[in-house]
Amino acid sequence: MLSTIVSFLRYRAAAVILGGMMLFLDQTANSAAIIEGERMHPVEARNGMAVTSHFLATRSALEVLEQGGNAIDAAATAAFSLAVTQPRSGNIGGGGFMLISSEQKGEVIAIDYREKAPSGAAVDMFLDESGEVDTNRSRFSHLAAGVPGTVAGLALALETYGTISLKQALAPAIALAEEGFVVTPRFSQGLKAAEKRLKKWESSRKIFYKADGGYYEPGDRFVQKELAETLKRIAANGVREFYEGKTAELLVAEMKRHGGLISMADMKSYEPLIRAPVQGLYRGYDIYSMSPPSSGGAHIVQILNILEGYDIGGSGHNSARTIHLMAEAMKRAYADRSKYLGDEDFVKVPLEGITSKKYASELAKGIDIEEAAVSQTIAPGEPQPYESDETTHFSIVDRYGNAVSNTYTINFSYGSGIVVDGAGFLLNNEMDDFSSKPGAPNAYGLIGGEANKVEPNKRMLSSMSPTIVKKDGKNFLVTGSPGGSRIITTTLQVIMNVIDHGLNIKSAVAAPRIHHQWLPDELRVEEGLSPDTIKILKDMGHNVVRKSSMGAIQSIMVVDGMVYGAADPRRSTALAAGM
Ligand code: GLY
Repeated sequence: MLSTIVSFLRYRAAAVILGGMMLFLDQTANSAAIIEGERMHPVEARNGMAVTSHFLATRSALEVLEQGGNAIDAAATAAFSLAVTQPRSGNIGGGGFMLISSEQKGEVIAIDYREKAPSGAAVDMFLDESGEVDTNRSRFSHLAAGVPGTVAGLALALETYGTISLKQALAPAIALAEEGFVVTPRFSQGLKAAEKRLKKWESSRKIFYKADGGYYEPGDRFVQKELAETLKRIAANGVREFYEGKTAELLVAEMKRHGGLISMADMKSYEPLIRAPVQGLYRGYDIYSMSPPSSGGAHIVQILNILEGYDIGGSGHNSARTIHLMAEAMKRAYADRSKYLGDEDFVKVPLEGITSKKYASELAKGIDIEEAAVSQTIAPGEPQPYESDETTHFSIVDRYGNAVSNTYTINFSYGSGIVVDGAGFLLNNEMDDFSSKPGAPNAYGLIGGEANKVEPNKRMLSSMSPTIVKKDGKNFLVTGSPGGSRIITTTLQVIMNVIDHGLNIKSAVAAPRIHHQWLPDELRVEEGLSPDTIKILKDMGHNVVRKSSMGAIQSIMVVDGMVYGAADPRRSTALAAGM
């Protein structure tokens, strides 16, 4: 304990909250010692904050901020560090979305680095001989991988808004891969749970298990030499290394050995895009969230628009009435998602219609305030005009008025389970986010249609919802979450907990959550709702189902120049740290 405190003093680490526990970090041993009990207050700082799902990534990001870097520098650094320390979701073999808000420039932009279908992809590639979806092929084979976007996306963020080089952003990740880090209980448990999937592939087995097949246990040091070499090549040769150099060659060779589709031409032609985020206005707050190919922003704004017509604050936090209204609004939004959302570069998404106040008030007319609608009686609406279970999120704010909200993923925990032999990173299984067959649910039970069918070079529909809320031109709330189909509703609830219910950011993040996604017709709730609330909801006709916790929302709130961070207590390794 003494050495931990000495280390804390030596490294000037702030007191931090990890999974709701106040900790001091021991930098030399990569371990954390709990010295204080649980608190429900956020971490407070004045000059910057990083909140990620892994304390080592938070620390990498905070060091960048301390050295004068901005939030974008810290974000790229955190993302590469997570790729090493949290292989279940942190990645260079996947993709995601980053929202950047610059108060100085008065703009919010979105970087879309979502994976793309390879050029050889076909609409029926995941259907078996009898026309049914072969989920093994779409989730656990080399065909499951989309062309990865992470490295290009992070490089673009740095080029556009950063002040440090790609090499500098990679340095902490390279050290963590090369020297290793101490295994946490969560890390160890994750690999044990995914053993069957990962051990199927020798390239994965040799990375994630000991030579004799044994497990990495808490306290062991975990080193990733192949990944370190890949990151070093990218640091030395730049972003094109991943897309045209030896790394690309290793990935394509992996595909060729096992019937995958990604070619050198696919790698070479991958491009991240800068997009305009979806924008909404909720009770005087400006909401910015991710635009297509994510459905997140569209439906967060749509649900908020529907709920704006009700006195949600007056109905009370997590009261039966509030939850009923939320569930009814969610059902309508997810019904629309099934029909209208897809990659806007391929299909016309009626974004303006979906996010319009007029359409929201039309939908609200169909809501009975006393009784739940049966989902089967709800169909996707007619928005006008027709114009158009692992992921990880982190939030970062700097002293220069920048905020970054980043969600990225390889889809499932450990993606497809397949490591690119010789390159040391896992391949995503994001192709399962396409609608393999209209009407057939994906792994999250989400129904999709024509708009999200598989097409060559198309981006698969996502629910990732990195979000920034501004008030009077200032960054106010930076938030987002993993959780598949639950990402949208998890993010929504933190926004509502703050704006409607006035909760501080820690309480907003920790509060029990609910979720409805139209189909299946169930109102999913976390532990913590009172039995009488559940009874009222059941009496209203809701099919209430208690399931495991949802999301892991790493959030920051800025109030009167003070920055408040909250790591989600649902993730034992999460950490908010400020300066
Ligand atoms: N793979 C989950 C999502 O993008 O929504």
